[in-house]
Amino acid sequence: MFTSKIAGIGSYLPKNKVTNEDLKQYMDTSDEWIQERTGIKERRYAHRTEETTTTMAVEASKIAIERAGITAQDIDFIVFATLSPDYYFPGCGVLVQRAMQMKEIGALDIRNQCSGFVYALSVADQFIKTGMYKNILVIGSEKHSFGLDFSTRGRNVSVIFGDGAGAVVLQPTEKQGQGIISTHLHSDGASAELLAMYNPGTHANHWVKDPVADYNDAVIGDMFMSKEMMDNAQNFPFMDGPAVFKKAIVKFPEVIMEALTKNGLATSDINLLIPHQANLRISQFVQQKLSLRDDQVFNNIQQYGNTTAASIPIALCQAWEEGLIKDGDLVCMAAFGSGFTWASALIRW
Ligand code: ACO
Repeated sequence: MFTSKIAGIGSYLPKNKVTNEDLKQYMDTSDEWIQERTGIKERRYAHRTEETTTTMAVEASKIAIERAGITAQDIDFIVFATLSPDYYFPGCGVLVQRAMQMKEIGALDIRNQCSGFVYALSVADQFIKTGMYKNILVIGSEKHSFGLDFSTRGRNVSVIFGDGAGAVVLQPTEKQGQGIISTHLHSDGASAELLAMYNPGTHANHWVKDPVADYNDAVIGDMFMSKEMMDNAQNFPFMDGPAVFKKAIVKFPEVIMEALTKNGLATSDINLLIPHQANLRISQFVQQKLSLRDDQVFNNIQQYGNTTAASIPIALCQAWEEGLIKDGDLVCMAAFGSGFTWASALIRW
């Protein structure tokens, strides 16, 4: 059986920087409030019409593929994690396959929000381990700026998110001890509605006043996306911030310890923890709980905001480019998010 290694990594961040001060033109907020609660100073927004979740993914992928020393035609499978796809369907994986003129390979989209990249990495890892594929492109990309409520009503959510993409090429390695050591995936759907975007969807129960009468009267298309839903902001993400915070600070340390314990390792063995960049306060809480030093934890949410499925590969890429990850280092990735889902991956670089 093979082990998978990250053979190449790339990221793409849109040029347009949006500071906390800039957001004040749309909503009642302040730099002080945002920095104090989230640590975020600025984020990037994709070009309204020229950049999409897929185009950003393609830019990140080009870099990852080049750094892996292969071409787009060598990729034999795509795993694409996003919650903000170009289309409701088909997924973004096929759009990358088309844009990069790849062979008629398999393309899989993953819908696990903030945990999406770790889930995607885990799926790709299984295909490498079994020998089925040799060059898998794993992507996390988000264009949040297109789907946020920029009025004061939506400020608790919209100030947090930013756009960007990250990608890695996963390949088999026979080098003893190198590569993905283990991945750990979890979910608890009991709180699915506490961090969610309800519409468009097929549930038909979050907006009707009288479910039976309204259902019978409704034009089916209206139940999928209606003016009433839009008036009630149900086409925007909803987040119960305190509930997310409470669960995240338990599950992040738990899933990191699960990975370490499974492999007979301790927190002191971690060279770099790349937490999903949810909120600087959450990362700081996790660091404190696990008694990690500052140099063991990487954060860049201050510059890019929370880019959901893209946050881990963007952070990993930046840390690698800054020389913070060297051969032989133990890198831990951990995520928590909507679902709720949470996950971790341990890699010997
Ligand atoms: N600017 C100014 N004031 C704001 C803003 C804003 N952007 N957003 C909310 N407020 C106000 C509210 O209206 C409220 O005012 P009131 O007391 O007069 O009613 C006050 O601030 C407190 O509002 P809460 O929603 O209770 O804010 P809270 O203190 O819980 O902080 C936050 C919100 C930062 C989201 C917090 O709950 C948190 O850290 N949650 C963790 C969840 C998280 O970070 N998720 C990230 C995305 S999900 C993920 O990646 C896992």
